[in-house]
Order: sequence, then C-alpha cells, then structure tokens
Amino acid sequence: MNLIAPSILSADFSCLRKEIEMIERGGADIIHIDVMDGHFVPNLTIGPVVVSSIRKITKMPFDCHLMIDEPDKYFKRFLDIGIQYISMHVELEGKVEKCMEITRRYDTKFGLAINPETSVAKLVPYLSFVDFVLVMTVHPGFGGQKFIEEASFKIAKLRDMGYEGIIEVDGGINKENVSKVRKMGADIIVSGHFVFGNNVERAIKALR
Ligand code: DX5
Ligand code: ZN
Repeated sequence: MNLIAPSILSADFSCLRKEIEMIERGGADIIHIDVMDGHFVPNLTIGPVVVSSIRKITKMPFDCHLMIDEPDKYFKRFLDIGIQYISMHVELEGKVEKCMEITRRYDTKFGLAINPETSVAKLVPYLSFVDFVLVMTVHPGFGGQKFIEEASFKIAKLRDMGYEGIIEVDGGINKENVSKVRKMGADIIVSGHFVFGNNVERAIKALR
C-alpha cells in the first residue's frame, strides 16, 4: 500500500474548498485532518463542524487524527459524519478500549497514534485489534516541523515484531526522507508543509 494523505493543517483556510480540490486533482488518496484541543497539544484546530461541511465537497476518504484529551467524548460526532479513518493517541491508554468499541459500529478504520517519545511497547497490547498505527515523526501540535528520524525507526520495529496492519507516518515528511520511511514499511504518507508549500501535483508525485 502506498497512499498519500496531505494534511490540510497547512492549507489556506480562507479557501479550503479550492485547496481540497487542488489536492484531489493533484492525485491525493486521502485527506488527513488534524483535530487539536489546546490540552493534549498546545494548539487548536479543526472540529466536527468543519469536517462535516467539507465532507459535502469531496468523495476522498477522510482520516481524522484526534490529538485531544477526551477522544471518547467526540468520537461519535466524527464517525457520524462518514469518515474512513480515525485515530486517537496511545498515550491516553485508559480511553483506547472505549473508542475502539464506539468505532466497531461504523465502517471506519480505527488507529492508534504514537508520539516520538513513547515506546512501541505501549502499542503491543492493542496491535491485534487496531486497523492501523500512526507513527508520529514530530511532536504533535504544528505543521512544518523538522522530521525526527529516530522516531521513524518505530516503523521498522513494528514490522520486525510481525505487525502486518497499516502503518501511517506523520510529521516532517518530504521528498528527501519519504523513501526511508517507505522502505521501513509505511503504507500511508501524511505530508502537510511539503505538499502545500510546493506545486501540489509535483509534490504528491515526488512522495509517491
Ligand atoms: C502535527 C500533525 C501533522 C502535521 C503534518 O501535529 O499531526 O499531521 O500537519 O504536517 P507536516 O508534514 O508539515 O509536518
Ligand atoms: Zn496528523
């Protein structure tokens, strides 16, 4: 699997429809949507109101990455919109089972995201239940940060451990480092700054 998921966090929000149409024409496979609450991460971004209005303008699969302290309270709101991927952070251990349970009633893939400083060991109890793992290669909160190579080694580690599910990688991905993460076993490549900061079509091609 080699899917490219531009992160709209780096889009121009004054013309979001145009930006979404541009990535769609440019060959994107999935739209990555970063949901932040100002608690789990020091930034505020997009909520279900925006996600449901952009749902009407494209058929592309939506991938909502929830960086919020209380994902269990909001999961249903996002799932009801009709999204294809949803993830929460494994650092919020106590809430994983509840969120997984809610998602089971939907045709949406459930994923666990892992921060750069968190050990893969935290994921182990859930690996046979999740549809995908999202390996963060920056500290979550902002687009346009520098790729943390060491964090990307978790991709290889997960494959070495025999994990055969989908792996998504997110943070600082560009044309220089994409082949390394692909070789380690990443299936979905998230990229914000690199895609929106360049000619979108060429950037998506370069990532692929
Ligand atoms: C960071 C977000 C990322 C971010 C990726 O907290 O989870 O999805 O938008 O953007 P770039 O590719 O610019 O690091
Ligand atoms: Zn993200």
